[in-house]
Amino acid sequence: MNILITGALGYIGSHVAVKILKENHNLTLLDNLANSKISNLKKIEKISGKKTDFYKLDVRQESSIKKIIEKKNIEAIFHFAGLKSVKNSENYPQDYFDVNVNGSKSLLRAFEKGRAGKKIFIFSSSATIYGNPKLLPCKETHKEQPTNIYGKTKKGVEIFLKKKAAKGNWKIISLRYFNPIGSHPSGLIGDNPKGKPENLLPAINKVAKGKEKELLIFGSDYPTFDGTAIRDYIHVEDLANGHLSALKYLAKKRKNVYDVFNLGTGRGHSVLEIVKNFEKVNKVEIPYKFFPKRKGDIAINYANVSKANSFLNWETKKSLDQMLKSTWLYEKNKTN
Ligand SMILES: NC(=O)c1ccc[n+]([C@@H]2O[C@H](COP(=O)([O-])OP(=O)(O)OC[C@H]3O[C@@H](n4cnc5c(N)ncnc54)[C@H](O)[C@@H]3O)[C@@H](O)[C@H]2O)c1
Repeated sequence: MNILITGALGYIGSHVAVKILKENHNLTLLDNLANSKISNLKKIEKISGKKTDFYKLDVRQESSIKKIIEKKNIEAIFHFAGLKSVKNSENYPQDYFDVNVNGSKSLLRAFEKGRAGKKIFIFSSSATIYGNPKLLPCKETHKEQPTNIYGKTKKGVEIFLKKKAAKGNWKIISLRYFNPIGSHPSGLIGDNPKGKPENLLPAINKVAKGKEKELLIFGSDYPTFDGTAIRDYIHVEDLANGHLSALKYLAKKRKNVYDVFNLGTGRGHSVLEIVKNFEKVNKVEIPYKFFPKRKGDIAINYANVSKANSFLNWETKKSLDQMLKSTWLYEKNKTN
């Protein structure tokens, strides 16, 4: 199949790129490098032993992307390009709506104009779409009530995709990720955000490497067993496999499809559990300090993954210890 990945040099996109190249699809990569480095391209090629075509483009450059879709006869798009900081989304809501919502709409238009036949589209949605879940583990049928702008942009895209799939030749899945962590077993690619990391594991890595003195833990009085927030952490390799399963599922469908699937492990871990386990498995110390809760953060969320298990024939394989070891492996190896 001829596949385009947007946001391909970022954390999750690069892992999916490696898996797709292993399956011998023809792959085209696109990224504007807003939150990634061009050196990731060489790393993807090194791991997979294959060359790829890369375009440094913004996902909103509709006519250039349409030309690529035509030229490469693109049949499927994995759309990872987007802004992902919950905090920045509150400070710069316009930018978040523009890149995440308008960018996705522009990409869909380019795909529609560039390809007449069946179009497969797999979108990176997020568990933030649920907001503060009333029922746990959280199912796909749970009401979408995001508590922050970032989650609202994901909801906006999902609404648009559902309408799109109602007519035309579209097969679309939104994958609602819980909290991806870990890295490729080569230690070459992993989560390497530009600027100060906001996700827990990149922040722990910085402390473990001595680049920060202590970890800031936001919130110590959540209604959880130890007062810190609980999330469902999933290994990025398991997450990447979920994308391949979604592709296989859509490729078999004859009629229009729109569907949503949670990708998580179904298990929740508190921030303190993560810190303690990281220290134990990697034999490092992570000093920490408590700070007030961040706006828009919630106490607990973890996934019900039975829908992805049965329809996508997918399940996670990695344990928490494996996730935490692999997170540190990448940071230890990293030179930039
Ligand atoms: N990592 C997570 O915790 C998480 C959780 C849920 C959902 N998601 C979603 O998954 C997707 C990928 O996340 P990630 O963790 O790999 O993030 P990332 O920042 O590492 O990757 C996103 C990539 O998109 C690129 N990009 C940003 N804006 C662009 C634009 N306008 N045009 C072209 N490229 C652009 C960036 O340069 C980056 O390489 C995002 O849409 C994110 O919202 C991530």
